[in-house]
Amino acid sequence: IKPPKPTILVSEKLGEAGLDLLRSYGDVECLYNLSQEELLAKISEFDALIVRSGTKVTRQVFEAAKGKLKVVGRAGVGIDNVDLQAATELGCLVVNAPTANTIAAAEHGIALLASMARNVAQADASIKAGKWLRTKYVGVSLVGKTLAIMGFGKVGSEVARRAKGLGMHVIAHDPYAPADRARALGVELVSFDQAISTADFVSLHMPLTPTTNKIFNDATFAKMKKGVRIINVARGGVIDEDALVRALDEGIVAQAALDVFTEEPPSKDSKLVQHENVTVTPHLGASTKEAQEGVAVEIAEAVVGALRGELSATA
Ligand code: MLT
Repeated sequence: IKPPKPTILVSEKLGEAGLDLLRSYGDVECLYNLSQEELLAKISEFDALIVRSGTKVTRQVFEAAKGKLKVVGRAGVGIDNVDLQAATELGCLVVNAPTANTIAAAEHGIALLASMARNVAQADASIKAGKWLRTKYVGVSLVGKTLAIMGFGKVGSEVARRAKGLGMHVIAHDPYAPADRARALGVELVSFDQAISTADFVSLHMPLTPTTNKIFNDATFAKMKKGVRIINVARGGVIDEDALVRALDEGIVAQAALDVFTEEPPSKDSKLVQHENVTVTPHLGASTKEAQEGVAVEIAEAVVGALRGELSATA
């Protein structure tokens, strides 16, 4: 008798090539937009769960799985929406897709950097509102400006490479980054305080961990150069959003371009989202056709490998 096929729940949209790969190995159910209650009610039917950032895989989810769930696959890099402690305690592997969306995230960082500097989003909205504000939307140039990359991992390095091409002076802070990687890209590794106090632009690329949670707060903003511009395509939680609003109101931060938020989606009435010097996008960093196809295959391979017992946790 053949053993039953593994059951795989995909709770957020995944590229077809990844789904095909999963279907060749197991029984796949795609249930997008499940509420937390629906997820808790269903999860004990599955050997594997695949999520993006919208599904919160909490301790309750692992407990509701009643020992059946063997692997959680995060179709992306950041695993801050998965309770790793609970996964370990309850014997479930967590794997991620660490490489396929690197370029997409870096490109979105550069898109936000350039569009913020030239007020593209605000100018677009103003024309659509019937205005023609050529004086109001004078921008700032990028060439010769100092960009601090906070978190010099895969995405940070690719942003650095591109910013060098735009003629920016690039510095970086990362307690774990190898000096030779920085040197090879012509990037100077500096201390946290040196990075934030000398930069004209600060781009965030660190994971959300207990150490980085709200690492950009009133005290941090107070050390920044007046008129600094901030880009965040990492995680909203690394910024204290109320402190950022204060820093924007005081003119310490001239502009911010944010793809990620502490709560997603943020409230429509959020002062931060509505601030005229803030440009926002809805967590689109990894959202290119190319990246999503790549991520789908990368996570499908990792999950199938884990179900076959070939892989250990990567996350
Ligand atoms: C990531 O951590 O890779 C991104 O948040 C991906 C995503 O948008 O799901």
